[in-house]
Amino acid sequence: MDSIHVRGGRSLSGEISVQGSKNAVLPIMAAAVLVKGVTVLENCPDIADVHCMVRLLQSIGCLVEQAGDSLTIDAGQITSHTLPHEYVSKMRSSIILMGALLGRTGQVSLNYPGGCVIGKRPIDLHLEAFAEMGIRIEQTDERLAAVAHRINGNEIRLRMASVGATENVILASVLAEGTTIIRNAAREPEIAALCDFLIRSGAKLYRSSQGDVIVIEGVRTLHSCEYRIPFDRIVAGTYLFGAMGAGGNICLRDVCADQLGQVLAVIRIMGGNVVCTKDAVCLQALARPLSVPYVRTAVYPGFPTDLQSPLMAALCRADGQSVLEETIFENRLRIVPELKKMGAEITVTGRQAKITGTDCLIGACVRAEELRGGAALVVAGLAAQGETVICGKEFIDRGYEDIRRDIVSLGGSLFYEETEGPSQKGDEAETE
Ligand code: EPZ
Repeated sequence: MDSIHVRGGRSLSGEISVQGSKNAVLPIMAAAVLVKGVTVLENCPDIADVHCMVRLLQSIGCLVEQAGDSLTIDAGQITSHTLPHEYVSKMRSSIILMGALLGRTGQVSLNYPGGCVIGKRPIDLHLEAFAEMGIRIEQTDERLAAVAHRINGNEIRLRMASVGATENVILASVLAEGTTIIRNAAREPEIAALCDFLIRSGAKLYRSSQGDVIVIEGVRTLHSCEYRIPFDRIVAGTYLFGAMGAGGNICLRDVCADQLGQVLAVIRIMGGNVVCTKDAVCLQALARPLSVPYVRTAVYPGFPTDLQSPLMAALCRADGQSVLEETIFENRLRIVPELKKMGAEITVTGRQAKITGTDCLIGACVRAEELRGGAALVVAGLAAQGETVICGKEFIDRGYEDIRRDIVSLGGSLFYEETEGPSQKGDEAETE
Protein backbone atom coordinates (compact mmCIF):
# COMPACT_ATOMS: atom_id res chain seq x y z
CA MET A 1 0.00 0.00 0.00
CA ASP A 2 1.44 3.37 -0.98
CA SER A 3 1.46 5.99 1.75
CA ILE A 4 1.12 9.73 2.25
CA HIS A 5 3.40 11.65 4.62
CA VAL A 6 1.94 14.84 6.10
CA ARG A 7 4.04 17.32 8.08
CA GLY A 8 1.69 19.29 10.30
CA GLY A 9 1.92 22.11 12.78
CA ARG A 10 1.94 24.93 10.20
CA SER A 11 -0.93 27.05 8.95
CA LEU A 12 -2.05 26.92 5.32
CA SER A 13 -1.86 29.76 2.86
CA GLY A 14 -2.57 29.63 -0.85
CA GLU A 15 -5.10 29.34 -3.63
CA ILE A 16 -6.20 26.49 -5.92
CA SER A 17 -8.82 25.66 -8.51
CA VAL A 18 -10.98 22.73 -7.34
CA GLN A 19 -11.19 19.59 -9.52
CA GLY A 20 -14.32 18.29 -11.24
CA SER A 21 -16.83 16.31 -9.22
CA LYS A 22 -16.43 12.53 -8.83
CA ASN A 23 -20.09 12.11 -7.88
CA ALA A 24 -21.26 14.15 -10.87
CA VAL A 25 -18.97 12.67 -13.55
CA LEU A 26 -19.78 9.03 -12.75
CA PRO A 27 -23.56 9.19 -13.38
CA ILE A 28 -23.00 11.43 -16.41
CA MET A 29 -20.55 8.90 -17.88
CA ALA A 30 -23.26 6.27 -17.36
CA ALA A 31 -25.80 8.58 -19.04
CA ALA A 32 -23.55 8.77 -22.11
CA VAL A 33 -24.55 5.13 -22.78
CA LEU A 34 -28.05 6.40 -23.63
CA VAL A 35 -26.63 8.56 -26.45
CA LYS A 36 -26.26 6.86 -29.85
CA GLY A 37 -23.40 9.17 -30.65
CA VAL A 38 -20.45 11.00 -29.15
CA THR A 39 -20.46 12.73 -25.76
CA VAL A 40 -17.63 15.09 -24.80
CA LEU A 41 -17.14 15.79 -21.09
CA GLU A 42 -14.81 18.57 -19.94
CA ASN A 43 -13.28 19.16 -16.48
CA CYS A 44 -13.33 15.43 -15.66
CA PRO A 45 -11.28 14.59 -12.55
CA ASP A 46 -8.35 12.23 -13.21
CA ILE A 47 -9.21 9.79 -10.40
CA ALA A 48 -9.33 6.01 -9.95
CA ASP A 49 -13.13 5.85 -10.05
CA VAL A 50 -13.22 7.56 -13.44
CA HIS A 51 -10.60 5.11 -14.74
CA CYS A 52 -12.79 2.26 -13.49
CA MET A 53 -15.91 3.68 -15.16
CA VAL A 54 -13.96 4.07 -18.43
CA ARG A 55 -13.12 0.35 -18.30
CA LEU A 56 -16.77 -0.49 -17.66
CA LEU A 57 -17.92 1.63 -20.63
CA GLN A 58 -15.31 0.02 -22.86
CA SER A 59 -16.40 -3.45 -21.68
CA ILE A 60 -19.91 -2.88 -23.10
CA GLY A 61 -18.67 -1.50 -26.43
CA CYS A 62 -18.14 2.23 -25.90
CA LEU A 63 -15.08 3.88 -27.44
CA VAL A 64 -13.52 6.19 -24.86
CA GLU A 65 -10.68 8.66 -25.30
CA GLN A 66 -9.14 10.73 -22.52
CA ALA A 67 -7.16 13.88 -23.31
CA GLY A 68 -6.25 15.92 -20.23
CA ASP A 69 -9.49 16.64 -18.37
CA SER A 70 -11.58 15.88 -21.43
CA LEU A 71 -13.36 12.54 -21.98
CA THR A 72 -14.85 11.60 -25.36
CA ILE A 73 -17.35 8.72 -25.16
CA ASP A 74 -18.69 7.17 -28.38
CA ALA A 75 -21.65 4.96 -27.43
CA GLY A 76 -22.76 4.39 -31.04
CA GLN A 77 -22.43 0.62 -30.62
CA ILE A 78 -23.33 -1.19 -27.38
CA THR A 79 -22.05 -4.74 -27.78
CA SER A 80 -22.73 -6.22 -24.34
CA HIS A 81 -25.08 -5.78 -21.42
CA THR A 82 -22.98 -7.73 -18.93
CA LEU A 83 -20.92 -5.67 -16.47
CA PRO A 84 -17.59 -7.39 -15.61
CA HIS A 85 -17.32 -8.32 -11.94
CA GLU A 86 -13.68 -7.21 -11.92
CA TYR A 87 -14.82 -3.58 -12.10
CA VAL A 88 -18.20 -3.81 -10.35
CA SER A 89 -16.45 -5.25 -7.27
CA LYS A 90 -14.01 -2.32 -7.29
CA MET A 91 -16.60 0.40 -7.63
CA ARG A 92 -20.07 -0.27 -6.26
CA SER A 93 -21.40 2.92 -7.86
CA SER A 94 -21.19 1.04 -11.18
CA ILE A 95 -24.74 0.06 -10.20
CA ILE A 96 -25.92 3.23 -11.95
CA LEU A 97 -25.03 1.58 -15.26
CA MET A 98 -28.10 -0.64 -14.70
CA GLY A 99 -30.51 2.17 -15.54
CA ALA A 100 -28.44 3.30 -18.51
CA LEU A 101 -28.07 -0.18 -20.04
CA LEU A 102 -31.73 -0.99 -19.44
CA GLY A 103 -32.72 2.28 -21.07
CA ARG A 104 -30.49 1.68 -24.06
CA THR A 105 -30.69 -2.10 -24.59
CA GLY A 106 -33.47 -3.39 -22.31
CA GLN A 107 -31.06 -5.75 -20.58
CA VAL A 108 -28.30 -5.75 -17.94
CA SER A 109 -26.58 -8.37 -15.83
CA LEU A 110 -23.97 -8.02 -13.11
CA ASN A 111 -22.75 -9.49 -9.86
CA TYR A 112 -24.23 -7.90 -6.79
CA PRO A 113 -22.07 -4.93 -5.86
CA GLY A 114 -21.16 -5.70 -2.26
CA GLY A 115 -21.26 -3.35 0.67
CA CYS A 116 -18.19 -1.53 1.87
CA VAL A 117 -16.60 -0.42 5.10
CA ILE A 118 -19.03 2.50 5.54
CA GLY A 119 -22.15 0.40 5.27
CA LYS A 120 -24.09 -2.50 3.77
CA ARG A 121 -25.16 -0.30 0.86
CA PRO A 122 -28.31 -2.26 -0.18
CA ILE A 123 -29.95 -1.62 -3.57
CA ASP A 124 -33.55 -2.48 -2.66
CA LEU A 125 -34.80 1.00 -3.57
CA HIS A 126 -33.26 0.69 -7.06
CA LEU A 127 -34.84 -2.73 -7.67
CA GLU A 128 -38.26 -1.74 -6.29
CA ALA A 129 -38.35 1.25 -8.65
CA PHE A 130 -37.28 -0.83 -11.65
CA ALA A 131 -40.04 -3.37 -10.92
CA GLU A 132 -42.61 -0.53 -10.87
CA MET A 133 -41.44 0.37 -14.37
CA GLY A 134 -42.16 -3.09 -15.76
CA ILE A 135 -38.56 -4.28 -15.54
CA ARG A 136 -38.21 -7.98 -14.70
CA ILE A 137 -35.48 -8.62 -12.12
CA GLU A 138 -33.92 -12.08 -11.72
CA GLN A 139 -31.72 -12.55 -8.64
CA THR A 140 -29.53 -15.38 -7.48
CA ASP A 141 -27.15 -15.27 -4.52
CA GLU A 142 -24.49 -13.52 -6.51
CA ARG A 143 -25.94 -12.42 -9.82
CA LEU A 144 -28.51 -9.84 -10.78
CA ALA A 145 -30.18 -9.76 -14.21
CA ALA A 146 -32.83 -7.32 -15.42
CA VAL A 147 -34.82 -7.46 -18.63
CA ALA A 148 -37.38 -5.07 -20.09
CA HIS A 149 -38.79 -5.43 -23.60
CA ARG A 150 -40.35 -2.07 -22.89
CA ILE A 151 -39.82 0.24 -19.94
CA ASN A 152 -43.03 1.96 -18.87
CA GLY A 153 -42.96 5.34 -17.26
CA ASN A 154 -44.59 5.34 -13.83
CA GLU A 155 -44.97 7.37 -10.65
CA ILE A 156 -42.17 6.32 -8.27
CA ARG A 157 -42.10 7.47 -4.65
CA LEU A 158 -38.70 6.65 -3.15
CA ARG A 159 -38.87 5.52 0.47
CA MET A 160 -35.53 7.28 1.03
CA ALA A 161 -34.03 10.15 -0.97
CA SER A 162 -31.30 7.85 -2.28
CA VAL A 163 -28.80 9.48 -4.66
CA GLY A 164 -28.06 6.29 -6.59
CA ALA A 165 -31.66 5.15 -6.80
CA THR A 166 -32.72 8.59 -8.08
CA GLU A 167 -29.98 8.43 -10.73
CA ASN A 168 -30.91 4.91 -11.80
CA VAL A 169 -34.60 5.74 -12.20
CA ILE A 170 -33.76 8.86 -14.22
CA LEU A 171 -31.47 6.86 -16.52
CA ALA A 172 -34.07 4.11 -17.01
CA SER A 173 -36.81 6.69 -17.74
CA VAL A 174 -35.20 8.94 -20.34
CA LEU A 175 -35.90 6.61 -23.33
CA ALA A 176 -38.92 4.85 -21.74
CA GLU A 177 -42.52 4.84 -22.99
CA GLY A 178 -44.55 7.54 -21.31
CA THR A 179 -43.85 9.74 -18.33
CA THR A 180 -42.06 8.94 -15.07
CA ILE A 181 -42.54 11.04 -11.94
CA ILE A 182 -40.01 10.56 -9.14
CA ARG A 183 -41.18 11.77 -5.75
CA ASN A 184 -38.81 12.17 -2.77
CA ALA A 185 -35.97 12.35 -5.28
CA ALA A 186 -32.47 13.09 -3.98
CA ARG A 187 -31.69 16.82 -4.30
CA GLU A 188 -27.87 16.72 -4.35
CA PRO A 189 -26.20 19.08 -6.87
CA GLU A 190 -24.88 16.00 -8.67
CA ILE A 191 -28.48 15.06 -9.54
CA ALA A 192 -29.01 18.56 -10.94
CA ALA A 193 -25.85 18.17 -13.05
CA LEU A 194 -27.05 14.80 -14.40
CA CYS A 195 -30.40 16.37 -15.31
CA ASP A 196 -28.67 19.34 -16.96
CA PHE A 197 -26.53 16.98 -19.04
CA LEU A 198 -29.53 14.87 -20.11
CA ILE A 199 -31.58 17.94 -21.08
CA ARG A 200 -28.63 19.15 -23.15
CA SER A 201 -28.62 15.72 -24.86
CA GLY A 202 -32.29 16.10 -25.77
CA ALA A 203 -34.07 14.50 -22.81
CA LYS A 204 -37.43 15.92 -21.69
CA LEU A 205 -36.90 16.33 -17.97
CA TYR A 206 -38.18 18.78 -15.37
CA ARG A 207 -37.17 19.25 -11.69
CA SER A 208 -39.36 20.97 -9.11
CA SER A 209 -37.90 24.12 -7.56
CA GLN A 210 -37.06 22.12 -4.43
CA GLY A 211 -35.63 19.32 -6.58
CA ASP A 212 -37.57 16.60 -4.75
CA VAL A 213 -39.88 15.92 -7.70
CA ILE A 214 -38.48 15.01 -11.12
CA VAL A 215 -40.65 14.48 -14.21
CA ILE A 216 -39.20 12.64 -17.21
CA GLU A 217 -41.10 12.34 -20.49
CA GLY A 218 -39.62 9.49 -22.48
CA VAL A 219 -38.10 10.42 -25.85
CA ARG A 220 -36.95 8.19 -28.69
CA THR A 221 -33.28 9.15 -28.87
CA LEU A 222 -30.70 11.47 -27.38
CA HIS A 223 -28.12 13.38 -29.39
CA SER A 224 -24.42 14.15 -29.01
CA CYS A 225 -23.42 17.06 -26.84
CA GLU A 226 -20.57 18.58 -24.83
CA TYR A 227 -20.81 19.17 -21.09
CA ARG A 228 -18.52 20.63 -18.41
CA ILE A 229 -18.46 18.71 -15.13
CA PRO A 230 -19.11 21.01 -12.12
CA PHE A 231 -16.65 21.35 -9.22
CA ASP A 232 -16.33 18.72 -6.50
CA ARG A 233 -18.00 20.17 -3.41
CA ILE A 234 -16.64 17.38 -1.19
CA VAL A 235 -13.05 18.01 -2.26
CA ALA A 236 -13.63 21.74 -1.68
CA GLY A 237 -15.05 21.06 1.78
CA THR A 238 -12.13 18.77 2.61
CA TYR A 239 -9.62 21.56 1.97
CA LEU A 240 -11.72 24.10 3.87
CA PHE A 241 -11.68 21.81 6.91
CA GLY A 242 -7.95 21.28 6.34
CA ALA A 243 -7.46 25.04 6.76
CA MET A 244 -9.82 25.14 9.76
CA GLY A 245 -7.84 22.44 11.53
CA ALA A 246 -4.37 23.82 10.77
CA GLY A 247 -5.23 27.53 10.67
CA GLY A 248 -4.43 29.93 7.82
CA ASN A 249 -6.01 31.67 4.85
CA ILE A 250 -6.94 29.85 1.63
CA CYS A 251 -8.95 30.58 -1.50
CA LEU A 252 -10.74 27.97 -3.61
CA ARG A 253 -11.50 28.99 -7.20
CA ASP A 254 -14.07 27.60 -9.67
CA VAL A 255 -16.49 26.71 -6.89
CA CYS A 256 -20.14 27.62 -6.25
CA ALA A 257 -20.63 28.72 -2.64
CA ASP A 258 -24.38 28.00 -2.83
CA GLN A 259 -23.62 24.27 -2.92
CA LEU A 260 -21.56 24.56 0.30
CA GLY A 261 -24.34 26.12 2.39
CA GLN A 262 -24.27 23.92 5.47
CA VAL A 263 -20.50 23.45 5.25
CA LEU A 264 -19.88 27.22 5.38
CA ALA A 265 -22.40 27.59 8.21
CA VAL A 266 -20.42 25.09 10.31
CA ILE A 267 -17.13 26.77 9.37
CA ARG A 268 -18.49 30.11 10.62
CA ILE A 269 -19.46 28.50 13.96
CA MET A 270 -15.86 27.24 14.15
CA GLY A 271 -14.69 30.86 13.86
CA GLY A 272 -13.85 30.86 10.17
CA ASN A 273 -14.30 34.12 8.28
CA VAL A 274 -15.67 33.23 4.83
CA VAL A 275 -15.86 35.57 1.83
CA CYS A 276 -17.70 34.26 -1.24
CA THR A 277 -17.69 35.63 -4.77
CA LYS A 278 -19.44 34.30 -7.90
CA ASP A 279 -16.92 31.50 -8.39
CA ALA A 280 -14.63 31.45 -5.37
CA VAL A 281 -14.67 30.89 -1.61
CA CYS A 282 -11.94 32.46 0.54
CA LEU A 283 -11.47 31.44 4.17
CA GLN A 284 -9.56 33.07 7.00
CA ALA A 285 -9.37 30.52 9.81
CA LEU A 286 -8.56 31.13 13.46
CA ALA A 287 -5.20 29.87 14.72
CA ARG A 288 -7.24 27.18 16.50
CA PRO A 289 -10.87 26.42 15.59
CA LEU A 290 -13.83 26.74 17.94
CA SER A 291 -15.91 23.66 18.72
CA VAL A 292 -19.38 23.03 17.28
CA PRO A 293 -22.05 21.96 19.80
CA TYR A 294 -23.88 19.59 17.45
CA VAL A 295 -23.86 18.68 13.74
CA ARG A 296 -25.86 15.89 12.15
CA THR A 297 -25.39 14.65 8.60
CA ALA A 298 -28.42 14.69 6.32
CA VAL A 299 -29.42 14.48 2.68
CA TYR A 300 -28.85 17.66 0.68
CA PRO A 301 -29.14 20.51 1.53
CA GLY A 302 -28.18 19.19 4.99
CA PHE A 303 -24.58 18.69 6.12
CA PRO A 304 -23.05 16.13 3.71
CA THR A 305 -22.14 12.71 5.10
CA ASP A 306 -19.03 12.73 2.88
CA LEU A 307 -17.61 15.62 4.92
CA GLN A 308 -18.43 14.20 8.34
CA SER A 309 -14.99 12.60 8.78
CA PRO A 310 -12.98 15.63 7.53
CA LEU A 311 -15.02 17.86 9.90
CA MET A 312 -14.37 15.44 12.76
CA ALA A 313 -10.64 15.63 12.07
CA ALA A 314 -10.66 19.44 12.24
CA LEU A 315 -12.74 19.40 15.45
CA CYS A 316 -10.12 17.16 17.10
CA ARG A 317 -8.04 20.35 17.49
CA ALA A 318 -10.95 22.65 18.39
CA ASP A 319 -11.18 24.56 21.64
CA GLY A 320 -14.07 22.78 23.37
CA GLN A 321 -16.42 19.82 22.92
CA SER A 322 -18.31 18.97 19.73
CA VAL A 323 -20.90 16.30 18.88
CA LEU A 324 -21.31 14.78 15.41
CA GLU A 325 -24.19 12.49 14.47
CA GLU A 326 -23.99 10.33 11.33
CA THR A 327 -27.48 9.58 10.00
CA ILE A 328 -26.79 8.33 6.45
CA PHE A 329 -24.33 5.41 6.70
CA GLU A 330 -24.37 3.00 9.62
CA ASN A 331 -20.60 2.56 9.75
CA ARG A 332 -19.12 5.95 8.98
CA LEU A 333 -17.42 6.61 12.33
CA ARG A 334 -14.71 4.02 11.68
CA ILE A 335 -12.01 6.62 11.38
CA VAL A 336 -12.17 7.33 15.14
CA PRO A 337 -9.57 4.73 16.26
CA GLU A 338 -7.05 6.13 13.76
CA LEU A 339 -7.63 9.70 14.96
CA LYS A 340 -7.18 8.52 18.56
CA LYS A 341 -3.70 7.24 17.61
CA MET A 342 -2.92 10.94 17.02
CA GLY A 343 -4.06 11.95 20.48
CA ALA A 344 -7.65 12.81 19.58
CA GLU A 345 -10.18 12.52 22.41
CA ILE A 346 -13.33 10.99 20.92
CA THR A 347 -16.05 8.77 22.38
CA VAL A 348 -18.54 7.02 20.13
CA THR A 349 -22.03 6.08 21.27
CA GLY A 350 -24.10 4.50 18.51
CA ARG A 351 -23.99 6.92 15.58
CA GLN A 352 -22.82 9.84 17.71
CA ALA A 353 -19.20 10.92 18.19
CA LYS A 354 -18.30 13.29 21.05
CA ILE A 355 -15.03 15.11 20.35
CA THR A 356 -13.11 16.97 23.06
CA GLY A 357 -10.65 19.14 21.17
CA THR A 358 -6.97 19.24 22.10
CA ASP A 359 -4.12 21.43 20.87
CA CYS A 360 -1.74 18.50 21.31
CA LEU A 361 -2.50 16.30 18.31
CA ILE A 362 0.66 14.41 17.35
CA GLY A 363 1.68 12.82 14.06
CA ALA A 364 1.39 9.00 13.97
CA CYS A 365 1.28 6.03 11.59
CA VAL A 366 -2.37 5.56 10.61
CA ARG A 367 -4.33 3.61 8.02
CA ALA A 368 -7.01 4.68 5.55
CA GLU A 369 -9.60 2.05 4.71
CA GLU A 370 -12.04 4.17 2.71
CA LEU A 371 -12.03 7.38 0.73
CA ARG A 372 -13.33 10.13 3.02
CA GLY A 373 -11.82 8.62 6.16
CA GLY A 374 -8.49 8.74 4.37
CA ALA A 375 -9.02 12.41 3.49
CA ALA A 376 -9.85 13.05 7.15
CA LEU A 377 -6.47 11.63 8.16
CA VAL A 378 -4.79 14.19 5.88
CA VAL A 379 -6.81 16.94 7.59
CA ALA A 380 -5.75 15.60 11.01
CA GLY A 381 -2.12 15.34 9.88
CA LEU A 382 -2.12 19.02 8.89
CA ALA A 383 -3.51 19.95 12.32
CA ALA A 384 -1.05 17.75 14.25
CA GLN A 385 2.51 18.46 15.37
CA GLY A 386 5.14 16.35 13.58
CA GLU A 387 4.72 13.86 10.74
CA THR A 388 1.75 11.59 10.05
CA VAL A 389 2.17 8.58 7.75
CA ILE A 390 -1.08 7.46 6.15
CA CYS A 391 -1.13 3.98 4.60
CA GLY A 392 -3.79 3.34 1.95
CA LYS A 393 -3.14 6.21 -0.47
CA GLU A 394 -5.07 4.26 -3.11
CA PHE A 395 -8.31 4.88 -1.23
CA ILE A 396 -7.72 8.65 -1.36
CA ASP A 397 -6.78 8.44 -5.05
CA ARG A 398 -10.32 7.27 -5.76
CA GLY A 399 -11.71 10.74 -5.27
CA TYR A 400 -8.84 13.23 -5.00
CA GLU A 401 -6.99 13.90 -8.27
CA ASP A 402 -3.70 14.83 -6.58
CA ILE A 403 -4.02 15.69 -2.90
CA ARG A 404 -0.27 16.43 -2.71
CA ARG A 405 -0.51 18.99 -5.54
CA ASP A 406 -3.46 20.68 -3.87
CA ILE A 407 -2.20 20.68 -0.27
CA VAL A 408 1.28 21.89 -1.28
CA SER A 409 -0.33 24.66 -3.37
CA LEU A 410 -2.27 25.62 -0.24
CA GLY A 411 0.96 25.91 1.75
CA GLY A 412 0.94 22.48 3.42
CA SER A 413 3.76 19.92 3.51
CA LEU A 414 2.89 16.50 2.09
CA PHE A 415 4.65 13.85 0.03
CA TYR A 416 3.92 10.39 -1.35
CA GLU A 417 5.89 7.24 -0.60
CA GLU A 418 5.56 4.30 -2.96
CA THR A 419 5.93 0.86 -1.42
CA GLU A 420 6.97 -2.18 -3.44
CA GLY A 421 4.39 -4.53 -4.94
CA PRO A 422 0.60 -4.28 -5.25
CA SER A 423 -1.50 -2.97 -2.40
CA GLN A 424 -2.99 -5.63 -0.09
CA LYS A 425 -6.31 -5.25 -1.87
CA GLY A 426 -5.07 -5.65 -5.41
CA ASP A 427 -3.67 -2.86 -7.54
CA GLU A 428 -6.44 -0.38 -6.76
CA ALA A 429 -8.45 0.03 -3.63
CA GLU A 430 -11.94 -1.41 -3.39
CA THR A 431 -14.30 1.46 -3.61
CA GLU A 432 -17.62 2.47 -2.16
C1 EPZ B 1 -23.84 8.49 -3.20
O1 EPZ B 1 -23.81 7.13 -2.79
C2 EPZ B 1 -22.39 8.96 -3.23
N1 EPZ B 1 -21.63 8.18 -4.20
C3 EPZ B 1 -21.77 8.79 -1.84
O2 EPZ B 1 -20.44 9.31 -1.90
C4 EPZ B 1 -22.58 9.63 -0.86
O3 EPZ B 1 -22.07 9.44 0.44
C5 EPZ B 1 -24.05 9.19 -0.90
O4 EPZ B 1 -24.56 9.30 -2.24
C6 EPZ B 1 -24.93 10.04 0.01
O5 EPZ B 1 -24.85 11.38 -0.38
C7 EPZ B 1 -21.70 8.53 -5.51
O6 EPZ B 1 -22.41 9.44 -5.90
C8 EPZ B 1 -20.85 7.73 -6.46
P1 EPZ B 1 -27.50 6.67 -1.29
P2 EPZ B 1 -25.16 6.23 -2.87
O7 EPZ B 1 -28.14 5.71 -2.20
O8 EPZ B 1 -25.92 6.59 -4.11
C9 EPZ B 1 -29.37 3.62 1.85
C10 EPZ B 1 -18.11 9.30 -1.61
O9 EPZ B 1 -17.38 9.26 -0.62
N2 EPZ B 1 -29.93 2.92 0.69
O10 EPZ B 1 -28.02 8.06 -1.22
O11 EPZ B 1 -24.80 4.82 -2.68
C11 EPZ B 1 -27.86 3.45 1.93
O12 EPZ B 1 -27.52 2.25 2.58
C12 EPZ B 1 -19.34 8.40 -1.68
O13 EPZ B 1 -17.92 10.03 -2.61
C13 EPZ B 1 -30.81 1.87 0.90
O14 EPZ B 1 -31.13 1.53 2.03
O15 EPZ B 1 -25.94 6.76 -1.59
C14 EPZ B 1 -27.44 4.65 2.74
O16 EPZ B 1 -27.63 4.36 4.11
C15 EPZ B 1 -19.52 7.54 -0.43
N3 EPZ B 1 -31.31 1.22 -0.18
C16 EPZ B 1 -28.44 5.74 2.31
O17 EPZ B 1 -29.53 5.05 1.71
C17 EPZ B 1 -30.98 1.57 -1.46
O18 EPZ B 1 -31.50 0.94 -2.42
C18 EPZ B 1 -27.88 6.74 1.30
O19 EPZ B 1 -27.47 6.00 0.17
C19 EPZ B 1 -30.08 2.64 -1.65
C20 EPZ B 1 -29.57 3.31 -0.56
